[in-house]
Amino acid sequence: MKHPVFAANWKMNHAPADAKAFVRQFLAYFPRQQDRTVLIFPPALTLHAVTDALKDRPDIQLGVQNIHWEDKGAFTGENSAPIARAAGARYVLVGHSERRHVFGETDEETGKKTAAAVRAGLTPLVCVGETLAQRNAGETGSVVLRQLRAALAHIEPHQISSSLVAYEPVWAIGTGKTASPADASTVHAIIRSELRTLTGEREEAVPILYGGSVNSGNATTLLAAPDVDGLLVGGASLDAEGWATIVRA
Ligand code: PGA
Repeated sequence: MKHPVFAANWKMNHAPADAKAFVRQFLAYFPRQQDRTVLIFPPALTLHAVTDALKDRPDIQLGVQNIHWEDKGAFTGENSAPIARAAGARYVLVGHSERRHVFGETDEETGKKTAAAVRAGLTPLVCVGETLAQRNAGETGSVVLRQLRAALAHIEPHQISSSLVAYEPVWAIGTGKTASPADASTVHAIIRSELRTLTGEREEAVPILYGGSVNSGNATTLLAAPDVDGLLVGGASLDAEGWATIVRA
């Protein structure tokens, strides 16, 4: 039996008041369910409002979409892992493709961010995925493994065991194109095998989420694919009713 993880990446959407309205509506559609994990990653400035709105629903956990790798200092505009933790975050996205491709985040930086997250008691959700050009060049496996190894390079095997990974092909994010369930499974199996090596465990249990144009119409099929342990959802997580349909998949 899977215990699926559903993660909502709101990106740069939902101001505090919208977020509160979202939570009110979402909770009405989604009574507590023990057999799944639900995570929401609001914008950092909205985190406090969502923490407050969810105070009676500790089953729904919150995260931030990015952190700096230093714990504090002169980094104007940035947020650290300890600040995110103190503000109510328990998780953090690391290496999301928009961080990598829009903001030029490097593999090395993702490794430092994962380490900072773990130091501060945040659970990292490490995102990996190939571009269309890399896919067409047959480089999917090598790109995903390079990103995964770099992101996990500075944490201990037992810390890797309590992290999460998301496979998000860049060409599928926000495009309406998804990987086929079979393609997702193939890449997830590559990630799974590498996680076994990195953790030294024969039966490792790191949840591997699929992300990229997931919606209420394709969620069930993607989630049923072998080695797909959950879904990381952007656009389709912004509507409370639609998101509730997905998390009940
Ligand atoms: P999307 O985004 O669901 O809008 O494709 C997913 C993500 O970027 O995490």
